[in-house]
Amino acid sequence: MQDCVRIAVVGTGMIAEWHAQAIGRCQCARLVACFDVVPDRAAAFAKKHGIDPVPSLDGLLSRVDVDAITIATPSGAHMEPTVAAAQAGKHVLCEKPLEITLERADRMIRTCEENKVTLACVFQGRTGKAIPLIQRALAAGRFGKLTLADAQVKWYRDQAYYDRVGWRGTWKMDGGGALMNQGVHTIDLLRLFAGPPKVVHAFMGTLTHRIEAEDAVVASVRYANGALGTIVASTTCAPGFPRRVEISGERGTVALEDHRIARWSFLDPTDEDERALREGSADEGLKGGSTAAEAIPLEGHRRQIEDFARSILEGREPLIPGREGRHALELICGIYASARSGRPHVF
Ligand SMILES: NC(=O)c1ccc[n+]([C@@H]2O[C@H](COP(=O)([O-])OP(=O)(O)OC[C@H]3O[C@@H](n4cnc5c(N)ncnc54)[C@H](O)[C@@H]3O)[C@@H](O)[C@H]2O)c1
Repeated sequence: MQDCVRIAVVGTGMIAEWHAQAIGRCQCARLVACFDVVPDRAAAFAKKHGIDPVPSLDGLLSRVDVDAITIATPSGAHMEPTVAAAQAGKHVLCEKPLEITLERADRMIRTCEENKVTLACVFQGRTGKAIPLIQRALAAGRFGKLTLADAQVKWYRDQAYYDRVGWRGTWKMDGGGALMNQGVHTIDLLRLFAGPPKVVHAFMGTLTHRIEAEDAVVASVRYANGALGTIVASTTCAPGFPRRVEISGERGTVALEDHRIARWSFLDPTDEDERALREGSADEGLKGGSTAAEAIPLEGHRRQIEDFARSILEGREPLIPGREGRHALELICGIYASARSGRPHVF
């Protein structure tokens, strides 16, 4: 039986470096090739990692020694390589957000399903040890009726971050700004804990950066389960603060600060509480990218790529299948629709 998934990286810019290094630390994955529309970039990346640069996507996808690809192209260029890979029978691990419109994301999901290949979406924050603890508490009904679900992403990116590559902060290729690019990780967690949204009302603005899309958003949400919540996402909050997710109910509240549990309080304590607090606040592998993109730790990508590779070898679903990666996109698109129209958006 095959014990290793052979991976090629598509798009060899900034985050591709995390992919390459993370793959190098995985037991079940091996980096074999890469492709970028800018050949010099692919060549430099390939040289650094001792692999082959392939001059075309078709060439890459026709290689029999490539089982899967990771997609690290700009967000609005995730669909084309995913569809081509699925049609060539290759599995796909795609960077967040899955894509920038629901139509494009749906085409990715559909094509991967039709061709029976795995589609997984990178949200490395989901690999945190605190996440299943919160999910278990929710499933056990420990919150009672869920009342409030809030997310705060007060991050910072300097103008140089946007200027370095032309697509960031554009509607066409980033699909938005602070919410679609940075906030999306936290929206994914919020959606995981609070469930589907019913209505959202939002405001957004471009307050300090020279970019097309927003660098600050606030939104009020009503969830399908009746809970209410707020969302704040920005890249203007110097020097940048840990992101926060807070889930409250009539019987308890849990707060996540970055990857760590900052509050775990229930009116009906159990023997599990001390252990949950200890384990959920001690995951040193993950820290947020609150101050700069370069500060993102490798460990989250390592955990997610290891899971992706194992899911293929074991024939099971990955941690975040494509259709789950779609959830954050749906909420974000609803927030943008409301902010543009000035009216509530109903899902
Ligand atoms: N998970 C995270 O924490 C995280 C962090 C940063 C970026 N990202 C995501 O990763 C993706 C890439 O971001 P980045 O900052 O590395 O961007 P980047 O601009 O540094 O790199 C993108 C690369 O893709 C190449 N490219 C563009 N179109 C292509 C195509 N059609 N086919 C092949 N290559 C193509 C570009 O030449 C460039 O080298 C984005 O979707 C972004 O949201 C995720």
